[in-house]
Amino acid sequence: MSGTSDQTAEARKSDFARLARSSVRLISALQDESGAYPASPTFSAYRGYCWFRDGSFIADGMSSAGEVDSASRFFDWCSAILKERSDSVRQIVDRAEAGDPVPDKQMLPTRFTLSGADGDDDWWDFQLDGYGTWLWAVAEHSKRHGLSLERWRSGIELTVQYLASSWDRPCFDWWEENPDQVHVSTLGCIAAGMSAAADSGILSVELSELASSTSQRATSRILSEGIVNGHLAKWLGSDQVDASLISIMSPMGVVSPSSEIGHSTISEVNSQLNVEGGVHRYLADTYFGGGQWPLLSCFLGLAFADAHETNKALDQLNWATGTADSNGTMPEQVPSHLLDPSRKQEWVERWGTAANPLLWSHAMYVRLAVELGIIEGKQ
Ligand code: BGC
Repeated sequence: MSGTSDQTAEARKSDFARLARSSVRLISALQDESGAYPASPTFSAYRGYCWFRDGSFIADGMSSAGEVDSASRFFDWCSAILKERSDSVRQIVDRAEAGDPVPDKQMLPTRFTLSGADGDDDWWDFQLDGYGTWLWAVAEHSKRHGLSLERWRSGIELTVQYLASSWDRPCFDWWEENPDQVHVSTLGCIAAGMSAAADSGILSVELSELASSTSQRATSRILSEGIVNGHLAKWLGSDQVDASLISIMSPMGVVSPSSEIGHSTISEVNSQLNVEGGVHRYLADTYFGGGQWPLLSCFLGLAFADAHETNKALDQLNWATGTADSNGTMPEQVPSHLLDPSRKQEWVERWGTAANPLLWSHAMYVRLAVELGIIEGKQ
């Protein structure tokens, strides 16, 4: 980063703080009374739904900004969903143990309506990462604010059993694609969640051992089959990177950002996918033409912050700030640098313009702003 952009970022810290604070207000205002965070209240394909993945990172951002009750209410929503599906979880676990796993369609969905029901639209629903991420996020929340996990115990126990039975199944990735692969970021989210649950003190000895051994198995799978040319790979056996891989270093810490693998992965994502602060999902992305995602810019910023590269982290926050429109709302992606412009229109025709606001974008902005001391909070 040049000295000039260092100075620009420094001078803009009050703008960053303003957007971070208004982001917290926006998320609070849009949180449903059930505790669910709508992914995007207006975008046709997401309206009325809350994802375990988006929601868990949103709750983590809110928790870091001191919004304890908001995050707790989201975790209540997760836990209630799991309890209501305890019979399904039991069946999934029993069938996996008997060597006759249920088909993908009978696994738990990735998203639910705001009131916690299964959706009735077709969706790429079988994704395991969000279940790991909620375990990680609820444990972080409890550590950060000294809260007992008792309130979420049943949900945590059911999730541990669910993931222990099914952690290595191929499923859709963070981007709801490539269902035939085992994705490294998915394994990382599971490892992070299971290790956090094992260490949380809320589980019986038996469940804690199950969570810990599953976490270790997922991590060894990453290290033995999920590395290519010294960096983490998009899926086991792939030679590509994906920006979602950053999350399993920062903030989840499954792979240390300062380890050799961590360092190579950050530098590969940075050189292949970061264009002037705006981060693409992966090189072959064509969704809405394959734009740059502010939430991914903020994940990369968190990794830079962890590596004590504060100016680079500020640069990421600075870029993300520029994606907010005149109402202060942040989109899922911006089209200023498209990987495949010829593919944008088909998505606009199908679903309308890209999601805005996307609550996950706002939450990652908040999380990075807290990390960098731009607003008060607890990392
Ligand atoms: C993204 C998912 C996200 C969902 C809701 C999809 O386009 O690929 O990662 O969970 O939108 O925000």
